[in-house]
Amino acid sequence: MLGKRSSDEGTVEAPLRLQKVIARAGLASRRAADELIAAGRVSINGSVIRELGVKVTSRDQIAVDGRPLSNAAGPIYILLYKPTGVVTTVRDPYDRRTVIDCLATLSERVFPVGRLDYDTSGALLLTNDGELAHRLMHPKFAVNKTYEAVVSGRISSEALSQLERGVSLDGRLTARASAECKGTDGRSSRIVITIHEGRNRQVRRMFEAVGYPCQRLVRTRYASLSLRGLKPGQWRHLTEQEVHQLRTMV
Ligand code: URA
Repeated sequence: MLGKRSSDEGTVEAPLRLQKVIARAGLASRRAADELIAAGRVSINGSVIRELGVKVTSRDQIAVDGRPLSNAAGPIYILLYKPTGVVTTVRDPYDRRTVIDCLATLSERVFPVGRLDYDTSGALLLTNDGELAHRLMHPKFAVNKTYEAVVSGRISSEALSQLERGVSLDGRLTARASAECKGTDGRSSRIVITIHEGRNRQVRRMFEAVGYPCQRLVRTRYASLSLRGLKPGQWRHLTEQEVHQLRTMV
């Protein structure tokens, strides 16, 4: 613990911040890891540590709530085509079906990166790589998310440009977006919209704000990942190349 030191082979292992090690193990985001540490739930070599900024090496035995930290299988990355009628949580107090229930055959613990509403379907990334998850969700990296929406009515070009320029939600304008009408029969319109923020029910609220309530919403792309080859409820592991692409993006 604390500072650089030589390993048995004489090479030097760069120590890592404890919060980063906890995040890498998939237990929490870096900020949440700091909270675990401050709450006295983390120990190093048997001693509880509450100080933030401590550095550790692979020789240190780290435990959270008394359980040793391990991510022996290495990080895993899953793309789920989340169906509607499923909650984006690990456990639901109302016993509804969760996105984790959709991965019944997966033995590793993963958690969702961001969320999709109960009534929204589409691309959802799940991982145990807390660090990458944290970065993908960080507003600084402005990760694009594309949605296909069916909205009531024949959408006007003014409404589309307002969606692109920004609409006021909770007294704050949404960031620039792109929105394109792909077709309408007069009673409803099909819109493809790309945003990079992640506010609560953002897309539905944006359409409501311009007067076209959303009837159906599917996230067709998350960052560089598309739903191609998946049906609702199906999932797959990301390829190494896809993981690399996500890493270079953030
Ligand atoms: N915007 C919404 O309104 N719902 C989602 O699930 C995602 C983005």
